[in-house]
Amino acid sequence: MIVPYVDLGSQWLSIKDRALHKINEVLENGMYLEDPIIESLEKRIARRLGVKYATTVNSGTDALIFSLVALGIARGDEIITVPNSYIASVAAIEHIGATTVFIDVGADHLINANLIEEAITPQTKAIMPVHLEGKMADMVAINKIAKKHDLLIIEDAAQAFGSKFLEFQPGNLSDVACFSFHPLKNLNAAGDGGLIATNNYDLIEKVNRMKNHGQVTRNIHHNFGFVSRLDSIQAAILSIKLDDLDSTLVCRRFFAKQYDENLVKYDIQTPVVSLEVFHSYHLYVIEIDNRDKVQDALKNVGIETKIHYPTLITDQIAYTSRYPEKNWDIPVARKQKKRILSLPIHQNLNSFQINYVSDQLRGLV
Ligand SMILES: Cc1ncc(COP(=O)(O)O)c(C=O)c1O
Repeated sequence: MIVPYVDLGSQWLSIKDRALHKINEVLENGMYLEDPIIESLEKRIARRLGVKYATTVNSGTDALIFSLVALGIARGDEIITVPNSYIASVAAIEHIGATTVFIDVGADHLINANLIEEAITPQTKAIMPVHLEGKMADMVAINKIAKKHDLLIIEDAAQAFGSKFLEFQPGNLSDVACFSFHPLKNLNAAGDGGLIATNNYDLIEKVNRMKNHGQVTRNIHHNFGFVSRLDSIQAAILSIKLDDLDSTLVCRRFFAKQYDENLVKYDIQTPVVSLEVFHSYHLYVIEIDNRDKVQDALKNVGIETKIHYPTLITDQIAYTSRYPEKNWDIPVARKQKKRILSLPIHQNLNSFQINYVSDQLRGLV
């Protein structure tokens, strides 16, 4: 049996008729960068997240960079975050000249909130929790620490559309939440895209200018900006994907439960999810001994898996070439990166395939 890690072709077939209809409307309207469908998508997402404002940009990375700049974070400011994220989280911090301060993660692969306070210095300006895999970090604890020390919170929610901590979605307990619509995300475009969600009017105004050459109104530019707009065709696709998001989440959570039940009695660490978390299962990440051998063996029986991520950001040349002296105290993240394995979990799988993956895995431990 073949179990692909992703299957965007099948996903397209499930929305094709509805999507082509909407795309055709956009193309006939001729407003390829400013169709009302963009604003309507932003409003729907803001409502769904329970925040006042949402604005789309060209990528999750731009969402992070623009948010940091709009919040006034600059050279010399320190931001506390994790080393086991995708490189984009730290690229955003480093691009604006701020300094990344890494702290370790917990058994759930998320920022260990107990370690935040000891990492705070007079230069600390913000905390950037990264809601990896579709699990939100402990935003109640992080919000409390930020209030106590007068720090900003920028949530990297690129992997967490549809996730909750208690009743709080990204953007509810922070200054801003940044999402990615990369094709592999739960809410995904057919290309790049991102979104900023916030209750801060000043921030959204600044980002709306920044993403469009600093334009206030036509031919009036108060700042030099960038070009980072979500185009109307992507907005059309995303609006259909948003219609289907709840059923996508039901499907992913159903398969996750099936994996949990199939694997629980074996020498396999299934995802650690705290009770407050509503996991959207962007990824289903197990921990296992001999990970590389297991991955190869699964590949040989038609099962595609991934590692998110095999190299910590602290060990990437992009980072070590800039900071050769740094040696962060991150033992948990270091141990986990050798053991983590992401199993296929997308909505175009079926229960036979989940059982097949589970059977093959059980045979390997
Ligand atoms: C945790 C995290 N942050 C940021 C990003 C950046 O998003 P994008 O690829 O849309 O720029 C990603 C995307 O993979 C991500 O996984």
